[in-house]
Amino acid sequence: MSPAAERGARLFFALWPDAAACAGLAAWSRELRALCGGRALQPQDLHLTLAFLGSVDAERIGAIERAAAEVAPRAATLVLDRPGYWKHNRIVWAGASRPPPELESLVADLRGALARSGVAFDAKRFVSHVTLLRDARDPTALPVLEPVSWEIRGFVLAGSSQRPGGGRYEILRSW
Ligand code: 2AM
Repeated sequence: MSPAAERGARLFFALWPDAAACAGLAAWSRELRALCGGRALQPQDLHLTLAFLGSVDAERIGAIERAAAEVAPRAATLVLDRPGYWKHNRIVWAGASRPPPELESLVADLRGALARSGVAFDAKRFVSHVTLLRDARDPTALPVLEPVSWEIRGFVLAGSSQRPGGGRYEILRSW
């Protein structure tokens, strides 16, 4: 088992961008950081959370994986075309003005499968966003940026894992 899962890490289901989307988002991040400051996520850490499970005992991983295996991955194109800022947590993010219906249905299926399996998750309404900067200043206005096209294929289970020189997150399994 991976170190993140062994330690009872904070786990979440997410979409991880392909190389092209990752490069586009990293370019947004540089541009927005010049405006708002803050801490940029490393390119390999950029992701879109589908369901946040929080701290999970290692023995629950099997049930979580079985629930995920019930969910059919979707193929869709997600166009990220609007940056946003949340005052309450000082996050700058990339969002979609028109998320594809397949993304909403993927989240609904995944959350439904988790609920049926008795796996707890944060049931806050899903708002598709990719966090780019943390501890950022409130921008007076956000720029218009080149839209980023992200080809959604599978989804992953990821965990927090602070490794020296590595990324903040570790992908545990992909579907
Ligand atoms: P954020 O980027 O908007 O903070 C790993 O921490 C991922 O899980 C991040 O994408 C983070 O979203 C998300 N996350 C953290 N805590 C969460 C919570 N309580 N509910 C939903 N998502 C959460």
